[in-house]
Amino acid sequence: MQPPRLDPLPPGLVSLDDHQRHAAQLLDADRLAFFAGAAADGLTDAANRQAWSALQLAPRVLQHMQDSHTRTRLLGRTLDWPLLLAPVAHQRLAHPDGEIGTAFAAQASQTGMVLSTLSNTPVEQVAAILQHEPALAPPLWFQLYLQPDCAATLALLRRAEAAGCQALVLTVDAPVQGIRDAERRHPLQLPPEIHPAHLPPSVHQPGPGLCQGLAASAPGWDDVRWLLEQTTLPLLLKGITHPDDARQAQALGVAGLIVSNHGGRTLDSMPASATLLPRVRQAVGNDYPVLVDGGIRRGTDLFKALALGADAALLGRPQVFGLANAGARGVAHVLRLLRDEFEAAMLLCGCARIAQIDASRLFINR
Ligand SMILES: Cc1cc2nc3c(=O)[nH]c(=O)nc-3n(C[C@H](O)[C@H](O)[C@H](O)COP(=O)(O)O)c2cc1C
Repeated sequence: MQPPRLDPLPPGLVSLDDHQRHAAQLLDADRLAFFAGAAADGLTDAANRQAWSALQLAPRVLQHMQDSHTRTRLLGRTLDWPLLLAPVAHQRLAHPDGEIGTAFAAQASQTGMVLSTLSNTPVEQVAAILQHEPALAPPLWFQLYLQPDCAATLALLRRAEAAGCQALVLTVDAPVQGIRDAERRHPLQLPPEIHPAHLPPSVHQPGPGLCQGLAASAPGWDDVRWLLEQTTLPLLLKGITHPDDARQAQALGVAGLIVSNHGGRTLDSMPASATLLPRVRQAVGNDYPVLVDGGIRRGTDLFKALALGADAALLGRPQVFGLANAGARGVAHVLRLLRDEFEAAMLLCGCARIAQIDASRLFINR
């Protein structure tokens, strides 16, 4: 197993936004545009952040706080804390270690990881790192982009199964790439040494898709039915935002949903994830796995996501900013910061357990 590079952590980084500001000074313009960019005017990206910020907390004091912990159950497994690393493509553009660095950080910090179809590191290598100490292995899920032909999709799925991934995440909100102004100004050219590890190089052509192009392999409900027949692994759908879609997925036997607007990178002018989450939760009831991502930058954001009904949340961009700043150590630092903030939020709100985090901890001014 290739060990990660042990880069020093730059001094003075005390928040996820600090990591982003620092990484912005290190990354070339095209790579920064790829990692930080959002669709069109960035309205949804900004709304994601604003909506978490606008929610206020209603702490209870003098609560029984002994034996507090952050463990929770999801899809039949225990998570050490309710956060997973979201699938983020092409992490070697941030750091030569790419997903290897991220995986070491996930393993060290007991954080689940969702590996992108478009990762630069094969799923087998990432799985070996996460499962280094099997008793402590955090969850590894594989994110699927449906491929133009079923055989290629099936090959990806079998590879993820054989590597020991515990769930599949089908991304359904990006049949074509969003129109991102920053990337149009600074188009990304993948250098020859950085390529998608799971796909032939020709399959991933950066640039906006057209109706006759990428959209031809856009997933439909029939594909979801077909995928469910192909695997015994739990299948989650990422990018569900409408209550009717949520109900349809649940009725088909989909194992869970990730409420996501893709970090505001696909369709601009969608509502914030925090606005969408309660509607999806209401549509599927309380006992069905629902996760959320988009704009989580503080432990209090994660706390608010759980209070609005999420079982867990996913973290997108900050992981690659940490990676750019100091490889595995940078990602581990990002996760440590977020976890410390989350634990502080729990204890200051009077919650000793994840199950105690509910809507009663949100301040609603009636
Ligand atoms: C650079 C970049 C690449 C991404 N690649 C993927 C991907 O390959 N598959 C996917 O489902 N989502 C992808 N996403 C979306 C993330 O999984 C996630 O939904 C989003 O980043 C969450 O928002 P946040 O960045 O504000 O935390 C990507 C996001 C970024 C920033």
